Amino acid sequence: MNRLPYLKNDDGQVTLMVDDKPFLILGGELHNSSGSDLQYMEEHVWPGLRKLGGNCYLTPVYWECMEPEEGVYDFNLVEGVISQARREGVRLILLWFGLWKNGASQYVPAWMKKDPEYFYMCGVDGRMVESVSPFCKKAVEADKKAFTELMRHLKEYDPEHTVIMMQVENETGIWGQPRDYCTAAQEAFEAEIPEEMAELYGVAGTWETAFGQDACEYFMAWALSKAVGEIAAAGRKEYDLPMFMNCVAIGLPLRAGQLPSGGPLPRVHKIWRRFAPDIDLYGPDIYSPFYKEVSGDFAGANALFIPELSQDKNSASKALYTVAAYNTICFSPFGIDGMMNGISENDLLAQTNSDISGTDEKNGLMLAEAYRILHILWEEIRMAQKEGNVFAFLQQTEPGTEFVLDDYILNVTYGDGGMRGHMGQPGHRDPESPIGGGFVLRRGKDRFLICGIACNVQISPAQGSRDQIFILEKREMECTENGLRPRRILNGDERNFTAVGAWPAIQEITFYRR
Ligand code: DGJ
Repeated sequence: MNRLPYLKNDDGQVTLMVDDKPFLILGGELHNSSGSDLQYMEEHVWPGLRKLGGNCYLTPVYWECMEPEEGVYDFNLVEGVISQARREGVRLILLWFGLWKNGASQYVPAWMKKDPEYFYMCGVDGRMVESVSPFCKKAVEADKKAFTELMRHLKEYDPEHTVIMMQVENETGIWGQPRDYCTAAQEAFEAEIPEEMAELYGVAGTWETAFGQDACEYFMAWALSKAVGEIAAAGRKEYDLPMFMNCVAIGLPLRAGQLPSGGPLPRVHKIWRRFAPDIDLYGPDIYSPFYKEVSGDFAGANALFIPELSQDKNSASKALYTVAAYNTICFSPFGIDGMMNGISENDLLAQTNSDISGTDEKNGLMLAEAYRILHILWEEIRMAQKEGNVFAFLQQTEPGTEFVLDDYILNVTYGDGGMRGHMGQPGHRDPESPIGGGFVLRRGKDRFLICGIACNVQISPAQGSRDQIFILEKREMECTENGLRPRRILNGDERNFTAVGAWPAIQEITFYRR
C-alpha cells in the first residue's frame, strides 16, 4: 500500500507528497451546498469539473448530515462523493464543517442546536451569537468524537487515498465582536492568564494587563486553538492525514471584531501553533483586492496554501503568479462548480437554482489552460525557484513592474493591447480583459521563457552595460500533454514586442551578444 500523503520540507521548500510523489493541487472548492446531494453532484458539478481538468477538489463534510442522531453516524454522502471522485480520477480534500463554519455553528446537528447545554458565545451586549462557545467542553467533546469517527471511517473506506488532506472547521473566529463574553468566557478572561500563555509570551497578569489592546484577540485565539487542537489531535490519531485550517484574510490593518477574532491570522500563529500542533498549515481565503499582500504574508508565515480565492476572469493570472512566486501547495478558487458555466461565486440565484446556467465559460476555460501550463512547467519552476531563476508578476493597480538581474533587466507592463500599444506599454484594449499576470523563467544565460496573460515583457541588458543583445530566436510554444512544443517562429513584426493578450500564452526568447 502507498504511503499516506504527507508534507515534505526540503530546505524550506514544502511539498505535498501523494503516493510518494510531489503533488501540486490545482483545483477549486465547491459551493457550500453542492456536496449535500450526490445527484446534484452528478448533474451539475462533475460535468463542469471535467472541462476544468483540476486534479483535486475541496468539498465539505456536513456534521449535521453525518450525525443526524446523537451517536448515529451516516457516511453515505462521504462515501458517495469519494467514489464519484475516484471514478473521475481526481483527489479530494474534505472540509470538516463541524462546530464552526465562518465563525457560526450552522452545521452542528439539530439535536445540538436545540439543546441549551451546548451553550453559545455572547457579544459585548450580552446577546447570544449563533456560535457554540469554545468554553463549552461538552460541545468540543462531541465534535471531537464525530471528527474521530469520520477519520476512522476514512481510514477504512479510502485505502487508495482519494482524500489527501483535511480542513478542520472553516474560518474560525467570532464575527462582529472582539471576543466571547458568555459567563464561562468572562470568568476565564478576568482570571490570570494561563501558565502556558505566560510561558509562550514571557508575561504575567490578567489578559488585559499582559496583552493590552491585543488581549481580546489573543484570548480568542487561545480558546479556539485549544478546542480545535483537541479535535485535530483526536482525528489525526485515528488517521494521520495532513491537516490545515483556512481563515479570513483581507490584507487591511483591521482589528479583532472587524475581522473574525481569534481566527488563525499570521499575527496569532504563535498561539495556534502552540495549542493546535496537529494543524500543519494555515491558509488564507483571499477575496480581497490585496492578493499579493495576503499571499505574501501567509507565504512568510508558513508554506503557502490557498484553499479559497475569488473565482473570476482574474483567476488564471493569479494561478500563474502564485505557483511561480511561492510554489503554493494549493490553488483553489471558490465556487469552482459554477465557473465552467460562467456563474460567479457571488451569484446567489445561480447557487440556489440549478436550472440557471451561465452563458460564458471563458473564465473557466482560461483557468483550465493555466492549469495545463502549470502542470507541464511545475518541475522546472521548482528547480528555477531554488536557483533564483523565476520572476513572477501580477497586476493589482500598478501599470507594470521590473526585475533587475545582474546582467539583464526585465520590464513588465500590463494590458492586453499587444503590439498595437506604444513603446511596449500596451494598456487594456478590452475593459473586460483580465489583470496581467505570469512569470519569466530564465532557462540559460541568454534564454528566457515568458508565460503570462495580458502583459508585455521587454528584456534588455543591465543598465550601463555596453553589451548589445539581439534576438537569435523567438518562438511561440504550445503546451501539450507531452510538454512544450515549439510552434511559430516569431520574427518580423512579431519580434518587436513580447506581448501576450488576454489568454495564457508562452514564448521563448534566446538572445545573442555582440
Ligand atoms: C468563505 C467561506 O469559507 C466559504 O465556505 C464560503 O462561504 C465563501 N466564503 C463564500 O464567499
